[in-house]
This record gives sequence, C-alpha cells and structure tokens, in this order.
Amino acid sequence: MRNVVVFSGAGMSAESGIKTFRDSGGLWESYDVYKVATPEAWLENPKLVLEFYNMRRKQVLEAQPNAAHHAIAELEKSYNVHVITQNIDDLHERAGNSKVLHLHGEILKARSISNPDVLIDVKHDLKLGDCDESGSQLRPHVVWFGESVTEMGSAIKLISKADIVLIVGTSLNVYPAAGLISAAKPDVLCYLIDPAEVNMPNLKNLEVIKSGATEGVTKVVDHLLAKIEAI
Ligand code: APR
Repeated sequence: MRNVVVFSGAGMSAESGIKTFRDSGGLWESYDVYKVATPEAWLENPKLVLEFYNMRRKQVLEAQPNAAHHAIAELEKSYNVHVITQNIDDLHERAGNSKVLHLHGEILKARSISNPDVLIDVKHDLKLGDCDESGSQLRPHVVWFGESVTEMGSAIKLISKADIVLIVGTSLNVYPAAGLISAAKPDVLCYLIDPAEVNMPNLKNLEVIKSGATEGVTKVVDHLLAKIEAI
C-alpha cells in the first residue's frame, strides 16, 4: 500500500468552527501568546493558562469533524495513511483516522507538572488544585512555545517514507513543525491545500490547491481513490 502523510494545521479545523491562530480574527489577535502558552506564563499566572485551555477544550468538544477530516479517514481504506497534525483537537480521530501523531499535544489530555509520562483523559475544566495521585498539579498536555516537540523524530521518520504528502491548513510559521516537509523524499508527490499563499520550499512534484480544506481535500482524495481504482 502506498504511504500517505497528511500534515495538518489549524486551517484543517477552521470549517469545523475552531479558530486558526494567524488569520484575521485568529486566536493570537485576542490573546497574548506569552501570557497563555509559554512555561513563563504558567509560572506567572497558571489560573489564566488553565482558563485559556478550558475555553479551547470546550470549543473542541462542541465542534464536529468536517468533510476534509472525513475524506482523509476514507483514504485510509486504500492507502497507508498517517496524519501528523499540529492541532490539539481530536477531529481527525473522531472522523475515523487510526494513525494520528499530535506534534503540539492534545487538549483532551492532561499531565502532572512532575510526571510528563502519565497522561489523563480530560473533558472537563482543569482548575488549580486538580492534581495527580502524587499531589502534583495537572496541566494541559500541550506543547507551549519554548518547549521541545518530543514527537518530531517520529514525524520525520514517517514523512521520510511518504510517497504522497498532503499539507493542509498551515501557515508553516512555527518550527520545527514547519520544517517537516524538508524530510520528505525530493520527488514526493505533494499537494498543498490552503486558501492563502503559503511560503513553501519548492518541491519537484508540488500541486498547490488554493481553496478551503473541505473543498480541496475532498478533491485530492477523490483523485487518489480514483487512481487506486484504475490500477
Ligand atoms: N481551509 C484550509 N486552510 C485554511 C482555512 C480553511 N478553511 N482557513 C484558513 N486556512 C489556513 C490559513 O490560510 C493559514 O495558512 O490555515 C492556516 C492557519 O495558519 P495558522 O493560524 O498559523 O495555524 P498553524 O499553521 O496551524 O499554526 C501552527 O502555531 O500557534 C501555534 O501551536 C500553534 O499548532 C499551532 C502552530
């Protein structure tokens, strides 16, 4: 089976009603990232950080996967699909994809500040005083700016084996995630799906589809499924 990697960003979930970060009206227009999404913010005002992620968790729980999420789940029936997402929502999983790697963490999981390896499923608000058994405060299982992206090695391994890559809804602004595509094979067949211009390294087989995810991803998936039928 041919290997497909889908590398997604906030634009993947935009049509599910979840705000992106850097579009007009994006999250970083209403919140100072240094006050809510850094280790320093946590030390300075953990209550504000918890409230910020509680708000985002509520939005994720109210959102539904969109046609693009479902199309990628459909692709898994005919291709070996790995999703590598920068998103902390669970919409790829809820749409049915079974192999999803979260580079920036998962909002529906928490971990204690003293033991990052024990993950706890969380669908409720996290408050100060919510602790693990050892009495250490719980925090969102999300990668803050300045923290290491521990899943990057696994992501590089996956994309280096990809025959086809779909890049969906990311401004490719945040490293190391934004550099992932440079680990793909030089002749990889790559589709870039985004309504805006995205600054991409020039790849030999790059097709840019300037549209939203639901329209663009379904178009590419239909094409890839038809290709398999034709074989
Ligand atoms: N369909 C597809 N793409 C869309 C849509 C849509 N309906 N709407 C917007 N986009 C595109 C925008 O044009 C932009 O290129 O989605 C991208 C969103 O970019 P960002 O807001 O920068 O989000 P992202 O690239 O995922 O940010 C990366 O930055 O703040 C951190 O940790 C956070 O994971 C996030 C990382």
